[in-house]
Amino acid sequence: MKGWETISAIEKRIRRHLKKLEPYVPIVPVDVLAEKAGISPDKVIKLDGNENPYGCSPRVLQALARYPYYHIYPDPDQRELRKAVAKYIGTTPESIVLGAGSDELIDLILRLFLDPGDKVINCVPTFGMYPFNTGICGGEVTTILRDEDYEVDVPAVKAAIDKRTKVLFLASPNNPSGNITVPDDLRELVETGILVVVDEAYAEFSGFSVIPWVSRYENLIILRTFSKWAGLAGMRVGYGLFPPKIANHIMKIKPPYNINAAAQIAVMESLSDIEYLRGRVQAIVDERPRLFRLLRSIAFLEPFPSDANFILCRVLDNRAKQIYDSLAKQGIFIRYFDTPLLRDFIRISVGKPEHTDALIEALKKMG
Ligand SMILES: Cc1ncc(COP(=O)(O)O)c(C=O)c1O
Repeated sequence: MKGWETISAIEKRIRRHLKKLEPYVPIVPVDVLAEKAGISPDKVIKLDGNENPYGCSPRVLQALARYPYYHIYPDPDQRELRKAVAKYIGTTPESIVLGAGSDELIDLILRLFLDPGDKVINCVPTFGMYPFNTGICGGEVTTILRDEDYEVDVPAVKAAIDKRTKVLFLASPNNPSGNITVPDDLRELVETGILVVVDEAYAEFSGFSVIPWVSRYENLIILRTFSKWAGLAGMRVGYGLFPPKIANHIMKIKPPYNINAAAQIAVMESLSDIEYLRGRVQAIVDERPRLFRLLRSIAFLEPFPSDANFILCRVLDNRAKQIYDSLAKQGIFIRYFDTPLLRDFIRISVGKPEHTDALIEALKKMG
C-alpha cells in the first residue's frame, strides 16, 4: 500500500499536459502477430505497417556483417550521410538533417518551434504522430477535416490560422487515404507564411515531390524516410530537407548520436544500390492497381485510389473488425479503423503478388 502511495505522489509531479496525453497506438510486432495466429513468424502476411515486403537491399545485410567498428560512436554531424542524402535528392548537405525515423524529426521540429499553447494545424484523417508530438510539446492541435475525397480544406485551414498557429502538417501522399496534396492547394498554404511541413514518407511510390520548392520558400520543410521505399523501417532512419538556417537549429537540438552506426551503414549501402531498390519500388507500384482492382471486385469493400504503398477501403455493413479478425486468424494482418472519422475502414499495404492472392482469396470466402 505504501508503495502505491509513493508512486501516486511521484505521479503527481509529472507535467500536467503529459499526464493526460493519450498514448500513440503503434503496430504489433511480427512474433506477437504470429503467436496470435498460431503460425511461425515467416508465414505471417504483414500488410498493416506500409513496410516494404521485399526487405532491404541484400548489400545492406552484407555490409552490416562486415563492419568492424560498432564499438565506436557514430558521427554526430552526420557528414557522410548528409552528403549522400543530398546527392540522392539533388540538394546541398547543409539542408539535410537525419533523424531516428522521420518520427524523430516531427518531434524535433515541434520542439524547435512550439511554445506551450502554440497551435499546430492537423488535417484529419492523417498520420497520428503530428497530434501526438504536439501534445508532448505542450502545443494545441487545431483539427481541420479533409473533404469526402480526403483533399485538404484550404479555406478552412486558412481561416484557422491565428497568431498562435506555428505549424501545419501535410502528409503527401497522406496516410491513411493515399492521395497526394494538390500542388495548387499546397502552394496557397505555403504562401500564407506559416511553417508548412510536407511529409513525403511515401513519395517514392507517388513519383511526385515538392522538393524543388524548398529553395523558394523559407517556411517549407520536407520530411522523407528510408522506412518504406528502402525497406529500412527497423533501422529507424528518416531525414528532413530544411531551409539551411532551420537545419542548423535542428542539428543543434537533436541527440548527438541519433543515427546509429548500423543505420548509417544501411543508408549508405541502400543509396549505392539504388537501381535494385527502385526495381522493388516499381514492383510495389505495379502491384497497386492489381490489388485495387481485386479489392473493388469484393462486394463489401470500397477502395480509394492511392499514390502510396497502401490502399484505404470503406467496409460496407459494419464489418471492418470482423474482417480484421478473420484475416488475422489466417495470418494476414491489415489495419482497421473504428474511429468517428474512419468508422468501418481498413487499410491494406501493397504486398507481393502472392500476398494479394492470399488476401483476396480469404476476402472472397467472407462474401
Ligand atoms: C505519413 C507518415 N510519416 C512518417 C511516418 C514515419 O516514418 P518513419 O519510419 O521514418 O518514422 C509514417 C509511418 O507510417 C507515415 O505514415
